[in-house]
Amino acid sequence: MEKFVIQGGARLTGEVTIGGAKNAVVAIIPATILAKGRCVIGNIPNISDVNILLKMLSEMGASVSFLDKTTVEIDTTHIVNPIVSYDLARYLRASYYCLGALIGRCGKASVSMPGGCHFGVRPIDQHIKGFEALGTTVGIDHGMINAKVEHHLMGSHIYFDVVSVGATINVMLAAVRAKGLTVLENAAKEPHIVDLANFLNTMGADVRGAGTDVIKIHGVDIMRGADYTIIPDQIEAGTYMIAAAATGGDVLVKNVIPKHMESITNKLVQAGVEVEEFDESIRVRRDGPICATTIKTMPHPGFPTDMQPQFTAMLTLAGGTSVVTEGVWDNRFRYVDELARMGANIQVDGKVAVVQGVETLTGAPVKATDLRAGAALMIAALMAKGTTEIEDIYHIERGYEDVVEKFRSLGAPIKRVETPDLEIPAAL
Ligand code: EPU
Repeated sequence: MEKFVIQGGARLTGEVTIGGAKNAVVAIIPATILAKGRCVIGNIPNISDVNILLKMLSEMGASVSFLDKTTVEIDTTHIVNPIVSYDLARYLRASYYCLGALIGRCGKASVSMPGGCHFGVRPIDQHIKGFEALGTTVGIDHGMINAKVEHHLMGSHIYFDVVSVGATINVMLAAVRAKGLTVLENAAKEPHIVDLANFLNTMGADVRGAGTDVIKIHGVDIMRGADYTIIPDQIEAGTYMIAAAATGGDVLVKNVIPKHMESITNKLVQAGVEVEEFDESIRVRRDGPICATTIKTMPHPGFPTDMQPQFTAMLTLAGGTSVVTEGVWDNRFRYVDELARMGANIQVDGKVAVVQGVETLTGAPVKATDLRAGAALMIAALMAKGTTEIEDIYHIERGYEDVVEKFRSLGAPIKRVETPDLEIPAAL
């Protein structure tokens, strides 16, 4: 096991380059299943979720090789095994995108119920509703989701009861091969939905309206391999922007799409941070105090839930009282107990956290409870007096590439160290 040891108090300065978007790549890798051919995907982030998905595709019969550090070639000509076992699916939510892609390609799939970050109940009823509307029978047995197309995948009109990134992506992956027109209403609009639609269209699909809440898909018979480059990661970029602001630093965040950052930029400005946008980069600096503010997370283009823990970490040192409302997940404040160990004053009542700014945080041993919670603890550690040790860092490495190297390049005193196995004394 390893942990991060972070010495607080440094101001982050310099430049950081953002990698490819995790939540796009985890949809685009499964989407390659739809091509009976070779895809070359660029701007692949160096994160563990990618490695696990590539292993899943290899086990199905695809051949996978890295052409360089950020470019992978995937040849899905010989997919023979439309199965994803628990051994791999348990590590990430996005394993279930193999379901939509395999339904589209093979007309059947057997995929273990997915793992991923734990924010309370994470239902998949909208995915199943969509697959069934397209003519698929879906059952869950012994932890496996088994899907089979009865005759043909048939286009359909599907209204999602909730705005769901996962259901929009999964149903889109199957619908590109359905006969006729599929209309997805109340669809999610995140940048990664648009990126997936662009990739599918490059493969020969006909997807229109991605990025709005109505997506129209004319099914096609054949999809081919394609070359594609993943968009930059909105959440990785936002995390470094907040880290720069939280430490009173001055950082140029490179390889971003500023339009994707607007909801985050807007809140940083409200919190007293200077943000300057360029074509493909954003400069963030703060000289004055952090101002208290309110945040409510919402589906895109609202403030992203995946930035909520990091922003809350910064607000622990704001002057006054901030109110943070989680509008997407039932239980995304588990990390607050860890911040409290560092001296933060946060009261949580259901989906609302009231953050009373304090003078200082102090370093402490803490645990990453999930991916973005881990990022929040890194930010808090940088703001704190003294040393913080963060355990369970595998959560962080699921979604942040080269995180130690990137923070160190900005002047953060952070190192990764081995933790010895704890010897638990035998019961007396
Ligand atoms: N929901 C349902 N039924 C469904 C699906 C979702 O009720 O069938 C509900 C959920 O319970 C939740 C809401 O709809 O309350 C939104 O869930 P969504 O399906 O949009 O989330 P997801 O697809 O499981 C993705 C990201 C998450 C991010 C959310 C929201 C990926 C792989 N994961 O999850 O990212 O928080 O969208 O934006 O794209 C992260 O990167 O740290 C992360 C957790």
